[in-house]
Amino acid sequence: MFKELLPYLNKWFEQADIRGYSIPDSYGTEHLKGHTDKSSGVPSSFKLDAVFNEFVERMKLNYPFHHPEYAGQMLKPPHPVAWLAYSMAMSVNTNNHALDGGPPTSEMEKEVVAQIAAMFGYDDAFLGHLTSGGTVANLEALWVAKNLHPEKPVLFSTASHYTHKRMCDVLGVESRAVSLAEDDDFEVRMRAELKNAGTLVVTMGTTGLGVIEPLDKLIPLCREAGVRIHVDAAYGGFFKLLEDTGLLSPEPWQLLHKADSIVIDPHKHGLQPYGCGCVLFKDPAVGRFYKHDSPYTYFSSDELHLGEITLECSRAGAAAAALWFTLRCFGLEKSSPFALMLGDCLKAARDFSNRMIKSASFELFEEPETDIVTYFPKAGSSAEISRLSRTLFNDTMQQGRSSLYLSLFNVEAADFRKRFPQIIITQAETSVTILRSVFMKPSHLEFTAEMESRLKASLERIKR
Ligand SMILES: Cc1ncc(COP(=O)(O)O)c(C=O)c1O
Repeated sequence: MFKELLPYLNKWFEQADIRGYSIPDSYGTEHLKGHTDKSSGVPSSFKLDAVFNEFVERMKLNYPFHHPEYAGQMLKPPHPVAWLAYSMAMSVNTNNHALDGGPPTSEMEKEVVAQIAAMFGYDDAFLGHLTSGGTVANLEALWVAKNLHPEKPVLFSTASHYTHKRMCDVLGVESRAVSLAEDDDFEVRMRAELKNAGTLVVTMGTTGLGVIEPLDKLIPLCREAGVRIHVDAAYGGFFKLLEDTGLLSPEPWQLLHKADSIVIDPHKHGLQPYGCGCVLFKDPAVGRFYKHDSPYTYFSSDELHLGEITLECSRAGAAAAALWFTLRCFGLEKSSPFALMLGDCLKAARDFSNRMIKSASFELFEEPETDIVTYFPKAGSSAEISRLSRTLFNDTMQQGRSSLYLSLFNVEAADFRKRFPQIIITQAETSVTILRSVFMKPSHLEFTAEMESRLKASLERIKR
């Protein structure tokens, strides 16, 4: 598919017209010319071949993120159209900090951010922009939280991404982790926790287990306590498109537009290369916190320069171009190819978890709500489960063209004991290591049977 798109890259170099200029085909400083046999400034073929060959060798040490046999972390290459658009825009290297640095890619950014805001049900009056990733997007939301309630703590769940605590520390804002699990005394417990809090972070798609935290139950409690809600949907945000498919419980998704701010990462489930997060605020008035003067920029137009509403300065315009191109090709509607691809990821996770439920050798740890499945090899003690999981993790990776690439997950001993009381677990153990797979490629759907058989083969091998 990359090969099919290569002619468009050539066309771009033939047709690009940047205020009357084409993309130069030389990088011609005199200095460079002295070091190459070509007038273009490209290194000599001899040098280029040598460096290229070294690059190919070094890249061999990657895991095959593009192949369904990689079912480990939240990693996959971007869609090739995103690669194409990124490469074309990168040849101009626009900077979306200011309209001075890239008017067209800034416009593209405003368009795609508006599309994402509409997907979540925010009305036209919102504030938002792309960021270099989820951590910075969450940092901005927490920074606004701090500005609105400087004296009040930020709460996040014990299952939230580790960077929330870290970013609160960076901001010097008090923070506390609370369980957002819907236990018997959920409402009473939450009412007590929310007293005097400023903002609650709710994760829609936790990094470890892919859990959708109960936003619908938390909204009324937060309203009652006067607490703001920030939704970290860095991983799960695009699943909003599947709320009517029966593949998810729709209730929390239907209320997403009530959140005060939302973070989503197009570089996770949005088919984008790294360097693409997004933060949205329901109330555009929070833009006042970003107000600053810059003696160097913002001269080319009176229109909004994205740098006037971002914490970061330079940002790749190519990231916006790639997302814009991708959404133009695949849409962002509930019936779009984009949504259908996401649906296949959920179906793959369901199919694999059913296999784990039926398996004689493996056990499902938690019913998946999204496309993250956690499971472990059956054994009588947690120590043996941890040992087998770690051994499987290593063994499955070393089977040449029949390998599997998984990830590990440490479960707190108390949580494990509660779910599997029949399994022996000693007092000294603080955690149990199990297996975790993120099914974030549609191609996983055709691979679940093969994955199960490779897992079984590995377990037999290590028990031999
Ligand atoms: C829920 C959640 N929030 C935030 C992040 C951090 O995002 P990034 O890695 O893009 O900085 C992640 C990353 O996995 C995540 O899963």
